[in-house]
Amino acid sequence: MGCVGWKLFWLLCLLSTFLQYGAVRVTVRESAVEVVRGDSATLTCSFFSLMPLFRLSIIWTLTPISHHESPIQVIVYAHGQVIESPSFIGRVGFVGMPWNADIILNETRISDAGVYRCVVNNPPETGDHGIGELSLTVLAPPSLPVCLWEWDTDAAGNVRLSCAVVDGFPTPQMIWEKLEPDQITLPVNTDGGMIGSVQIANVSAQTSGLYRCSVSNPLGTQHCYVNLSVYSPADNSPGILQGVMLSLTMALLLLALMVLALWLHRSAQESKWRNSNEDECYNEIKYTPSLIKRSFV
Ligand SMILES: *[C@@H]1O[C@H](CO)[C@@H](O)[C@H](O)[C@H]1NC(C)=O
Ligand SMILES: *[C@@H]1O[C@H](CO)[C@@H](O)[C@H](O)[C@H]1NC(C)=O
Ligand SMILES: *[C@@H]1O[C@H](CO)[C@@H](O)[C@H](O)[C@H]1NC(C)=O
Repeated sequence: MGCVGWKLFWLLCLLSTFLQYGAVRVTVRESAVEVVRGDSATLTCSFFSLMPLFRLSIIWTLTPISHHESPIQVIVYAHGQVIESPSFIGRVGFVGMPWNADIILNETRISDAGVYRCVVNNPPETGDHGIGELSLTVLAPPSLPVCLWEWDTDAAGNVRLSCAVVDGFPTPQMIWEKLEPDQITLPVNTDGGMIGSVQIANVSAQTSGLYRCSVSNPLGTQHCYVNLSVYSPADNSPGILQGVMLSLTMALLLLALMVLALWLHRSAQESKWRNSNEDECYNEIKYTPSLIKRSFV
């Protein structure tokens, strides 16, 4: 009997403590939520209060990843009314009222990512508000990258290929490859994470070919291409020039031989009538091809 009396006493003590200093207790069942952009996310927030819920108020705020300093309101429940914030209108709603403060967020956007807080207040319960905190991560596949190329101004004959991707979370990994004739992976300079470039030194016919930039994260992969065609006169013309000059020399040699044959024939005939100096004649013939050649080139 005495035992029951003590129990009752403690219970009353406990109750009076709650009524005096009691606060709404809030628990978050999932403290880290991941969602793929466009899908729905449920943000959980359970509360416990000893008081009737006549004056219950709930405020959900978001501190976006992009700007930490300013939390924004998401949805508010007060005086029996629900108010959605402009950037969430038609996309957010309470799902368990009045038993809990859970909300559903539809058509999630990248900008929805951040830290969410649910603040529950139930006057006349005194003390601190109950606050629950959770983080929302919005995943997105990489957007289609844009491939560009430009002459490097630092060094002549160098080309820089760059690849830029606007969207994607987690930040997409970037790979630059030369596909033809052999597949080669090139070292990428990534400045800022979303832009990656490769430098191609001493562009020539050998560096011509199809180059591909690939951006990927666990949700997907996207590509863009650059077709680099180099027609370098410095590379091709020596070969052509040599070929042209070789055939020219051959023609001249043949011409010289014909001239020589004709000359020999004529001088042989001439020598029949008058005895001229043979050495002088041969010297003249020897020099003829080089003279012609010089005038051609
Ligand atoms: C969110 O989507 C769910 C399922 O499609 C739907 O039942 C709910 O009404 C939507 N909520 C809002 C606030 O649009
Ligand atoms: C490019 O040419 C320069 C000078 O001709 C040479 O020093 C350099 O090693 C070359 N670079 C490559 C990557 O071939
Ligand atoms: C790249 O350009 C060259 C020359 O214009 C062309 O012959 C080749 O087919 C192109 N390759 C691709 C994959 O477009």
